[in-house]
Amino acid sequence: MITANNEEHTRMRRLLTHAFSNKALKEQDQILHVYADMLIDKLAGIVRGSQHPVVDMTRWYNFTTFNLIGDLPFGEPFGCLSDNKYHCPKTSAQEAQGKFTSCIIKHGNGGRGLSLPEIDVNAGVFVLAGSETTAALLTGCTYYLLRHPEKYVRLVSEIRGAFAQISEIKLSALVELPYLNAVLTKILRIYSPIPFMLPRLVPQGGAVIDGQYVPDTIHLNSATERYPVTSYIPLPTSPSSIPKIQHDFPPESRPERKARVKKQKAIKEAFMHSWNGYKDHAWMRDEVSPQTGGYQDSFSGWGATLVDSLDALIIMGLDDELELALEALDRIDFTTTRSAEVNVFEIIIRYMGGFLAAHDLSHGKHPILLKKAEELGEMIFNAFDTHNRMPQMRWNWSKYFFPTRISRVVANYDA
Ligand code: HEM
Repeated sequence: MITANNEEHTRMRRLLTHAFSNKALKEQDQILHVYADMLIDKLAGIVRGSQHPVVDMTRWYNFTTFNLIGDLPFGEPFGCLSDNKYHCPKTSAQEAQGKFTSCIIKHGNGGRGLSLPEIDVNAGVFVLAGSETTAALLTGCTYYLLRHPEKYVRLVSEIRGAFAQISEIKLSALVELPYLNAVLTKILRIYSPIPFMLPRLVPQGGAVIDGQYVPDTIHLNSATERYPVTSYIPLPTSPSSIPKIQHDFPPESRPERKARVKKQKAIKEAFMHSWNGYKDHAWMRDEVSPQTGGYQDSFSGWGATLVDSLDALIIMGLDDELELALEALDRIDFTTTRSAEVNVFEIIIRYMGGFLAAHDLSHGKHPILLKKAEELGEMIFNAFDTHNRMPQMRWNWSKYFFPTRISRVVANYDA
């Protein structure tokens, strides 16, 4: 689900919502008690068995949450707490009958539920997302509380004041404890289990983030050069003759010709199959996703397949399709992208290579090809704006355009 497209992600999130609802979580109280008690028993055993007990709490928290995440979605504890070491789950999604999983399957009526392969794949996400994060938070919490005993005492007094005995501790009551929640919120901030910045796309129309307006698209060709070129070698004015490298085929016999034409036809049919799939499902996008019938914008979203198929359309003599593709080219806007970074290598070979190859093969018949190549060059030139003019392989354009703004937002966040 973490790499699914918008539509699939929404479907999966809708199914998972039930498993995270207050009602579903209430049903998990008992399981949480089992593992919390087990952890306390284990720690008490260590303390009783040694005069100077030392425990690695990170490890124990991980055993506990790893075990718990085995029980919640898969209905099978991983046995880490009982054996004091990590285990791999034995259960496949097919066998899993945990409340969590059955909740996902149950609510997935009408064939829109999670399929077994989807559960299999997402199981890994859950184990990691549900165990490491919680264990890291608890580790941070323990560390800071031990460094600030007065806060520790205040927290203990709030919890013990609220419950007469351990069995009364329920999730619904814990959310009502103000100091406990303040501690957890603070630890989430200062000891974040996910310490890196999660990339986000600015919604269409832009957004205000931390008081700053952030536009949805940036004009990539409007940057001021940082390392201006001081002198250029002028381009040759008349084209130099380039030696021919193509093979000269000897005359072919009638059967040879027949066999070649048959192969050509098969290749053309295979090409048309892919091209039609692209037209139907991913037109003007970078790639078609053949299994889902969707698309991906892996190369800045400027229609990579459209552009790098131009030479194939010419070679195969698919004139109508070429005309359609050439008409679409004018709608590509190389001055903006919604990608976080521009993959310079791919952009050059697919787009620049696509335009120039088609221009060459069509003997300069279509001016739009050079026009688009020029537009692309104006933009990608920025990636070559380095002190030694060597291009950045992956051009992080947002850092280039907003170095101070981004660091200020991060600084505010840290504060
Ligand atoms: C202290 C504990 C936790 C922290 C700090 C944490 C943090 C996060 C963060 C920052 C994200 C990314 C959200 C986003 O980009 O929109 C995330 C996503 C996710 N987390 Fe957690 N998480 C925790 C516990 C859990 C637990 C206990 C589970 C499951 C039992 C879980 C399951 C997930 C899943 C499935 C996603 C992906 C959601 C999506 O793609 O829509 N997390 N978590």
